[in-house]
Order: sequence, then C-alpha cells, then structure tokens
Amino acid sequence: MKIAVIGANGQLGADISDAFDQRGDDVVRLTHEQIEVANLDSVATALREIRPRVVVNTAAMHHVEQCEADPERAFAVNATGARNVAIVCQDLQATLVHISTDYVFDGRKQSPYGETDQPAPLNVYGHSKLAGEAEIQSVAGRHIILRVSGLYGTHRCRAKGHNFVELMLKLARERGVVHVVDDEVLTPTWTAEVARQIVALSRADAYGLFHATAEGACSWYEFAREVFSRTGTPVDLQRAQPGQFPMKVPRPQYSVLENEQLKRAGLNTFRPWQEGLIHYLKACHRYEPTTVQHRYSFAQ
Ligand SMILES: NC(=O)c1ccc[n+]([C@@H]2O[C@H](COP(=O)([O-])OP(=O)(O)OC[C@H]3O[C@@H](n4cnc5c(N)ncnc54)[C@H](OP(=O)(O)O)[C@@H]3O)[C@@H](O)[C@H]2O)c1
Repeated sequence: MKIAVIGANGQLGADISDAFDQRGDDVVRLTHEQIEVANLDSVATALREIRPRVVVNTAAMHHVEQCEADPERAFAVNATGARNVAIVCQDLQATLVHISTDYVFDGRKQSPYGETDQPAPLNVYGHSKLAGEAEIQSVAGRHIILRVSGLYGTHRCRAKGHNFVELMLKLARERGVVHVVDDEVLTPTWTAEVARQIVALSRADAYGLFHATAEGACSWYEFAREVFSRTGTPVDLQRAQPGQFPMKVPRPQYSVLENEQLKRAGLNTFRPWQEGLIHYLKACHRYEPTTVQHRYSFAQ
C-alpha cells in the first residue's frame, strides 16, 4: 500500500514512517521542505505526484507559546492546513489519517475524556487544532482523526527540541536536583505505540474520531519519578512549589483521554503508559530491568 507521511522527520512522523515501512508498505516521507500544508497548491502538487492510498498528516504548529504569539499562523497550519490535506485526499480518494490533541479539552472534567465529551480549548493551539478537526469533518472525505497526548519518542520533537524523558535525564545529570509540576495530569505516550495503532487502523474499515493514548494516567512529577526509578538515575526529585513555573499560556490541568472508540471497535493496541516507557528505554537506552541499581531519592 502506498502511504504518504507529512512531517516525516518529526518525532511522530518518523516512527509512523518506520512502522509502515516495516509492514512492507511503500512509504513516501514528506518533510516541510517538500510540502507546505498551509498552501493548497503545495499540498496538491506533492500528493498528486505520489497518488497514495493513505496520507498521514502529523504536521502542526504545536509550540503552545508560539501559537499564542502568532494565532494567524497557528490557524493557517493547524486548521487551513488540515483542510487543504483533506481536500486533496478526497480528490485522490485517499484515506486521511490526521493527528489532533488532548488540548482540545479544558480539563475541568477530572475523569477521562471520551470522544463524545464536549471540547473547550483553553489556548490558541487547542482552538486551532479543534478547528482542524472540524475542517476535515466538513470536507467529509474518508478520514481518521487521532487525538494523542504527551508524546515522547526516539526522534527529537522538532518544535520543542527535546522530549520529556531525555530532558529529565539531562537535568538530573547536570543539576542533581529536579523540580517537576505535580498538578498537570495526562497520559504520556510513546510515539512508536501511536505508530503501531495507526498501522492497525489503516488496515481496518474504521473511520472517524479516535482517542489514542497509552492506558492510565499520571502527573509530570509521577512520570519523572518513573523515568528515574526505571533508569536508576541518582537524583533528588522534588515537586515544584505552587507558582515555581508560572504558566505563560493556560493549559488543561487534566487531559486524560479514554480510547472509547478504539475499544468499541476492538482495535485498541495501547498498553499502560509504564510499559510504553520501559519499551522506549529499552529501545533508546539499552535498558534492562534486571540490572537497574536504585540510587535515587524522591520527595514523598
Ligand atoms: N508532542 C506532543 O506531546 C503532542 C501532544 C499532542 C498532540 N501532538 C500532535 O502530534 C503531531 C506530531 O507532533 P510531533 O511531536 O511529532 O511534532 P514535531 O516533531 O515538531 O514534528 C512536526 C513535523 O511537521 C512539520 N511541519 C510543521 N509545520 C509544517 C507545515 N506548515 N507544513 C508541512 N510540514 C510542517 C515539521 O517540520 P519542520 O520542523 O521542518 O517545520 C515536522 O517535521 C502534531 O500534530 C501535534 O499537534 C503532539
């Protein structure tokens, strides 16, 4: 099957490309140099040449502070860009797989969000991604929209320059003491697991909106504690004090998603987030559970 991946050198796009590749598909990897999603002509030219059966769009402006500073560009990429890709996919009779976000919710619910829960974004990024979903739905071609959360992967996140796991390990090495917020709850998800889910979905006759995160939930502090514990990293991990890292842009304090539709369709391939972390550490750090030395101290 011919697959075009937009944002193929990004954190998620690289894993999705590899996952399709490993299943024997013919993968065309498109980087920002080859396609500009905010420009319909650019999208049409790039995709018409390839004539893919499936297009995976991971391209986004998703640096939350940058979106707030430049809403016009955020909407051009995240909303108009999504529409452009949907229009060309419909024209080519290709299935569009599009990546959205947990930030479409405001976090007030305090229990996992299902696909039928009402979105209420708190910031420009969330609004522009929700608008992208609506654009795709209004074009009404064959599409799959996946809302993901808290991604970390082998390939660097191009917008942020790091992933949380590597940032924590770096801070522990350099500073010895690490402060992490404990009042934002989400589900950290390894990009390779999202990629595996997309490959499975692309082979099923299932379309629409899907929540697609690992199972379970934790705060950033709890995630950091698991990273240090699993890697045996010597560190003094502390909960951040209220106001220690003031938020420049409002974010949902609770953005846990329930993969209701994937489960209903019998297609959910996600594991608990702790297992995803173990597999990531094995892949990136040659982590072996039996050899871990616990030399850390944690604030209780
Ligand atoms: N990272 C997270 O924790 C997280 C959480 C929830 C949802 N998401 C969603 O997951 C998706 C992938 O995120 P990621 O972490 O893989 O991001 P990433 O590493 O920053 O990758 C994004 C890719 O899209 C490309 N791109 C950006 N703007 C583009 C444009 N206008 N036209 C064409 N290509 C463009 C980037 O290229 P350049 O870098 O060269 O511009 C890059 O290759 C995004 O849709 C994001 O909204 C991410």
